[in-house]
Amino acid sequence: MTTTLQEQLKNLFFHSIFGRDCTVTVCVNLWLLVLGYLDAFHHKELRTRQKNTMKKQIPGLLNTTMPISTYCSNRSDHVFWDLYHPTQATAHIFVDTIFDGSSQYTLPINPLVPAVFLFGDSLFDVGNNNFLISLAKADLPHHGIDFPTKKPTGRFSNGKHCADFIAEKVGFQTSPPPYLSLVFKKNKASLFMNGVNFASSAAGIFNETLPQLGDKIPLSKQVEYYATVYEELVKELGSSAAQHRLSKSLFVLEFGTTDLASYALTPEPQIKYTRQQYVNLMSSTLKGQLKRLYNYGARKFVLPGLGPVGCMPGQRVTSPTDDCNEESNHWAVKYNEELQLMLQELKSELHGFSYTYLDSYTVLQNIIQNPTPYGFTKVKAACCGLGRLNAMNLCLPISSYCSNRNEYVFWDMFHPSEATARIFVNTFFNSPSQYAFPISVRQLIAI
Ligand SMILES: *[C@@H]1O[C@H](CO)[C@@H](O)[C@H](O)[C@H]1NC(C)=O
Repeated sequence: MTTTLQEQLKNLFFHSIFGRDCTVTVCVNLWLLVLGYLDAFHHKELRTRQKNTMKKQIPGLLNTTMPISTYCSNRSDHVFWDLYHPTQATAHIFVDTIFDGSSQYTLPINPLVPAVFLFGDSLFDVGNNNFLISLAKADLPHHGIDFPTKKPTGRFSNGKHCADFIAEKVGFQTSPPPYLSLVFKKNKASLFMNGVNFASSAAGIFNETLPQLGDKIPLSKQVEYYATVYEELVKELGSSAAQHRLSKSLFVLEFGTTDLASYALTPEPQIKYTRQQYVNLMSSTLKGQLKRLYNYGARKFVLPGLGPVGCMPGQRVTSPTDDCNEESNHWAVKYNEELQLMLQELKSELHGFSYTYLDSYTVLQNIIQNPTPYGFTKVKAACCGLGRLNAMNLCLPISSYCSNRNEYVFWDMFHPSEATARIFVNTFFNSPSQYAFPISVRQLIAI
């Protein structure tokens, strides 16, 4: 009987009403709802007061449980006591479910890790570049039109992006703040406690990427900034507590697109290296920086591989038939191979080093080749931009933008839409490890 009721409840509260994906906001609201509900349910005074108030407002509506009503004898077989209220049995199971520490429904409220540190380029930037002199800045309309504040935030997206969804998935209610927004604040250690975002649009593994775009924080500098965070945490918590905290935290590094673009667009690296040498150097340079992070206490690493970068609208538009740029895709695959080999090496070299490699390529390729089940109708054109495929320029205030943004895989010529980012992150957190090697993100967290 209990099982049946429990199933009914789960369906009722989490699936039919709130949808399968219990987001932070929904869970918090749900939580408040439950508390209010239980209050009214258990306190006679409150119940009477509420009833009286409502009676004044809506006479006749509260003819719920009247002395003339019939009532059942098998009350614990019923989900509802009256037409608005659950039975005691329901309330019991409901509270048990919520308070069960390992319950999947309370995950978004209790963070699974102490902190998340994010490193990367414009796919992760949450506002660092707004503090720099750069052309790679998402501080203009129409960026952020679907963000909770409806304002541009420095994210190259209509709303949230992958960095935000990762933070939500591990249970934080806010995305870790951009490092450069914190440098002049007092009491920094407390601001660093749950993680920091170092990502910077146009940044690469190499110091010099896309010089045309101005200032950025390349990987080596992002790691230097992290070192200052490390020092602050050690000062605040003491060395061993800080080490422990960091060893349980997630370090997510998303790099490579910018470096490959830089090779294609600037003559210098082409003179110095073949593309294969360049890709090898990307991987070995990243390896050096991962070791530095390890020396500053990092143990759990998440590394998304490159997606099919040749299928971004900005690359398709160079083909007269809107096809993906196969050469770009080829080198993304090559880099992903190098990255995976390098991670295997690191794991054998560094004691306690753990990682999850995310097969972004397959996941995004699946979406692009078979968009309908995901709710997408537009895989080639960008939502916001100018010219053919909306891909002749980035999203500018003079650009037109689409209204059905959830149907577009891409927000602008280079960046996925919020809908894509959400699906992307969900895939790695929800599914078994089919697209994550050698262990899933959840297994990494559990170590
Ligand atoms: C990259 O820049 C850092 C300073 O942020 C410097 O220490 C490092 O040597 C540079 N790397 C290369 C390969 O130039």
